[in-house]
Amino acid sequence: MHSNESKTLSDVPQREQWGSRVAFILAAAGSAVGLGNIWRFPYVVGTNGGAAFVIIYLVVIFLIGYPMMITEMSLGQKTHKNAIGAFKDLAPGTPWWITGALGVLAGFVILSFYSVVAGWALAYFFKTLGGSLGVGTDFVGTFVGHITNPGVTVMWHGIFMIITLGVIAAGVVKGIERTVKFLMPALFILLLALVVRSMTLPGAGAGIAFYLTPNFKELTPQSILGAVGQAFFTLSLGMGCMITYGSYLGDKEEISDNAAWVVGLDTAVALLAGFAIFPAVFALGFDPGSGAGLAFITLPGVFAAMPGGTIFGAAFFLLLAVAALTSAISLLEVVVAWVVDEKGWNRKKASIIIGVLIFIVGIPATISMNEVNFQMFGMPFFDVLDIFQESILLPLGGLLTAIYAGHIYTAKRLREDVARNKSKIQLGEWFDGLIKYLVPLGIAVVMVMGWVDIIKNYMAK
Ligand code: PHE
Repeated sequence: MHSNESKTLSDVPQREQWGSRVAFILAAAGSAVGLGNIWRFPYVVGTNGGAAFVIIYLVVIFLIGYPMMITEMSLGQKTHKNAIGAFKDLAPGTPWWITGALGVLAGFVILSFYSVVAGWALAYFFKTLGGSLGVGTDFVGTFVGHITNPGVTVMWHGIFMIITLGVIAAGVVKGIERTVKFLMPALFILLLALVVRSMTLPGAGAGIAFYLTPNFKELTPQSILGAVGQAFFTLSLGMGCMITYGSYLGDKEEISDNAAWVVGLDTAVALLAGFAIFPAVFALGFDPGSGAGLAFITLPGVFAAMPGGTIFGAAFFLLLAVAALTSAISLLEVVVAWVVDEKGWNRKKASIIIGVLIFIVGIPATISMNEVNFQMFGMPFFDVLDIFQESILLPLGGLLTAIYAGHIYTAKRLREDVARNKSKIQLGEWFDGLIKYLVPLGIAVVMVMGWVDIIKNYMAK
């Protein structure tokens, strides 16, 4: 008779570990590099005064992003647990697990609308390749037509979710690691090709000047808010994602250099995305400040007018889809790791069930922009999900993680954990100051400012 009690240690499936240091860096960088870098960063820069915003963003990445990255990776490595399990392990019998629960919820919420945009990118890849976006196309009309066609958007959202859940069902090494080892180099090549194309167009200089000349007059308090929000989103912080990925690190792997690699790669890709986009936008006489439509309305126009535009346009949307996929798998992994670790679900079953649930929640987001106009609080459901993650889930998750790590677990102990393995970057007392005071204070101020803003906008309606 085999009762549960008679299970020996060897019956318990071993928790997976990354095959190599490079695999971990690519997976974490794959999570970080996503729509946030290639779709969102350039348009936020475009609407916030170009280089002036970039400077603030870099300061935030350095002072808030990097210490948070180290903290999350280290807590994951220490506990070898998912976002919720890590806090349960570290602070048993306390409500700190709620921090992880916010993260799991964030994974669910973000992926449900992230996949919708990723679906647009896939569809635009085929549209561009098929030559249906030539000169003279009504690009606004095409985009609006696309996102308000529920049959088509739900289909692409579904296709993207199936690919995502397929990768996660295959496991950490056979799924995530294999995928990122192939896709991340491809992503860098595509991006570099686009940068070269864009910067060599006649008239590219104006775009480069816009991108590199700071215009501080266009900066508003909202820009700073935007920089912090963008930093958290782009680095996949504040939601247990890096805790989860860190949990698959062996105890001998170092943290501070790896975290610097991930932050550095993510920042490099965001900055390069600007060099791929602005020179081309200016060279062909388009407006850089067109907001969220930059990638799907302005750029198709730019590509249509550019020599070799079909190939470069297709390359751009492929880049967007690839970047989205390596992030989407990390979002799904946060949720799946939780049910696998804590609820004992089998990974395949968990990936399918959760993937399908996220697909379903995403449907009202896909159809919130058309005649059906699925609204909540007077906004499209898509925006509700985005605002929920940006102004509540990520900042609150980040704030609680920083307070827990800095003051309860203590920054000093965290630093000792990190120092167990040799690394080039040594954490000094500066790290304690950042994680204990600057990071939580910065997040709290921005979060409250964000709430005030939302309430004001809501009242004004
Ligand atoms: N970092 C991803 C991007 O920039 C999004 C993401 C957020 C992924 C949170 C995982 C966790 O697109």
